[in-house]
Amino acid sequence: MTDGKKQASLSRRAALKKGLLASGSVGASIATGSLLSSSAQAASHATQSQPEKLITEVQDWNKYLGDGVDARPYGRPSQFEGDAVRRSVAWLTADPKSSVNFTPLHKLDGIITPSGLCFERHHGGIAEISPDDHRFMINGLVDNPLVFTMQDLARFPRENRVYFLECAANSGMEWRGAQLNGCQFTHGMVHNVMYTGVRLSHLLKEAGLKSNAKWLLPEGADPSHMTRSIPMEKALDDCLIATHMNGEALRPEQGYPMRLVVPGWEGNMWVKWLRRIEVGDKPWHQREETSKYTDLLEDGLARRFTWEMEVKSVVTSPSPQAPVNHGRGQLVITGLAWSGLGKIKRVDVSIDGGRNWTTARLDEPSFSKSVHRFYLDINWDGKEMFLQSRAIDELGHVQPTKNQLRAARGLNSIYHNNGIQTWHVRNDGSVENVEIS
Ligand code: MTE
Ligand code: CO
Repeated sequence: MTDGKKQASLSRRAALKKGLLASGSVGASIATGSLLSSSAQAASHATQSQPEKLITEVQDWNKYLGDGVDARPYGRPSQFEGDAVRRSVAWLTADPKSSVNFTPLHKLDGIITPSGLCFERHHGGIAEISPDDHRFMINGLVDNPLVFTMQDLARFPRENRVYFLECAANSGMEWRGAQLNGCQFTHGMVHNVMYTGVRLSHLLKEAGLKSNAKWLLPEGADPSHMTRSIPMEKALDDCLIATHMNGEALRPEQGYPMRLVVPGWEGNMWVKWLRRIEVGDKPWHQREETSKYTDLLEDGLARRFTWEMEVKSVVTSPSPQAPVNHGRGQLVITGLAWSGLGKIKRVDVSIDGGRNWTTARLDEPSFSKSVHRFYLDINWDGKEMFLQSRAIDELGHVQPTKNQLRAARGLNSIYHNNGIQTWHVRNDGSVENVEIS
């Protein structure tokens, strides 16, 4: 963060702190049984915003024949959904080939991220690999070093699982204070898809593990040769070698023709364009687990191997890119919650900056190490709100505040920021990223 930006966000926070104190009781009443009474108001609002002629006059799409079945051999979203795109932050990286873009969380509902909107993080651009030319090797401390073609892989039993993938750097730019205006940018380094893949344990068994085989080193076929050390227990527990996402072949951006799936653990370990797994007896301490993906603490020491992505949530609407544009009355607050340690048990939502909490409605389906969708239906009185969500996972872990995180880890961190996010919803419905303390 530049000094100018820091100043701006600090003074914004100071002003908000004052504002919160001055405004006394903030916000709205939480609707419990009162939803029906406010639905009339919502309906009349809908009538006002749609001119009568949309009902009475015949429209073009009613009159003229549309495209035929030959127009879209591979379907695409409606032309009116052009805003639902991945976006990047210009100042974040020097070159798009070693960069990141963000999932437009504010435009999505449910729990599955459409394949074309999954954020991308590449260290050496997108490798375009023909499946016919792809080879995957297991070597090192095994009885039989093996090389698999894609056809070989297809002969192993496979399964389907929904998992989130979150980059350890997600929300990293927010560590020192509110900075980026939109959940796409603050939280969009996460996606959640259904993978089809082969259990890594099947393939390791096929190769035959030696008794001192304790660690794995997966390696990517892209020019970054991404490598990370993974302990054997995790590999044998739930890791997959995925060939499909959301029912179709992996997208090139996501590692076509195969990627490693390391459920609940930081995205960096999910090696894309997977070409090799070396089996060893100790960790390798590669670049991505020494100079990167370690958390620098106040005393100059760094946390090593912080693999698990801990419990986290964010309100996706309303949010800065999804303001309230229908005025007071019935309002759906919604967001996402996830934990790398299991299922989400509960999500609480506050509209007054964390003073009072109401348990949100956790929607189905609920899968372990997957994103969950929550809703809170309120009757908004049109007063400003300081919206927050706080997730609790099935092991009882509670999402911390940002100040609790800073107290534990200091100010130098980037990675593993799972602190509670605050959105300031103004009475005109516009929304801004803020922090209150
Ligand atoms: N694998 C390879 N081969 N090359 C890469 O650059 N990036 C890693 C990981 N696997 C990377 C990789 C990082 S840091 C993350 S967060 C995830 O892939 C991102 O996965 P995605 O692009 O599917 O979102
Ligand atoms: Co990453």
